[in-house]
Amino acid sequence: MHVDLYEKVWMWAASGIVALFLATIVMTGWVQAIQPPSHMETVDPTKLGEYAEWADPKVVIGPEGSVRVSVRAEMFSFSPDPIEVPANRPVTFRVTSADVLHGFHVVGTNANAMAIPGYVSQFTVTFPRPGTYLIACNEYCGLAHADMVGRLIVKEEAP
Ligand code: CUA
Repeated sequence: MHVDLYEKVWMWAASGIVALFLATIVMTGWVQAIQPPSHMETVDPTKLGEYAEWADPKVVIGPEGSVRVSVRAEMFSFSPDPIEVPANRPVTFRVTSADVLHGFHVVGTNANAMAIPGYVSQFTVTFPRPGTYLIACNEYCGLAHADMVGRLIVKEEAP
């Protein structure tokens, strides 16, 4: 069968591109493993009660004014709830799950991460507007997924 030279070139080029795309998926999945993009920290999700941070997840305000919030997600709630943080200060969230994959999304802001069993997802956000925000789980996690909500209260700081 005669195949025109240019057609051959394009067939090889297209096949090469498809192979490259597949190799990219395999490499990122296999070599780098699947993990939260921001942070690489592991915990044993079956023993969260043995970690001081995860046995009693809470808001910790450091002596220099830093705000750290540890959040434990599990079917079908977040703890602590509500979460109270000051406005206009960087707040570092550390989120993990005690059971299955959950989401942690502060609705109306760009605070949005996955709560992955075995990993700690960490990100820092500043909330300029005081108020009460809804925290929604945005990964399907079971029958009561739609009811899995929490509250974030952003408080104006005392002058
Ligand atoms: Cu937790 Cu959906």
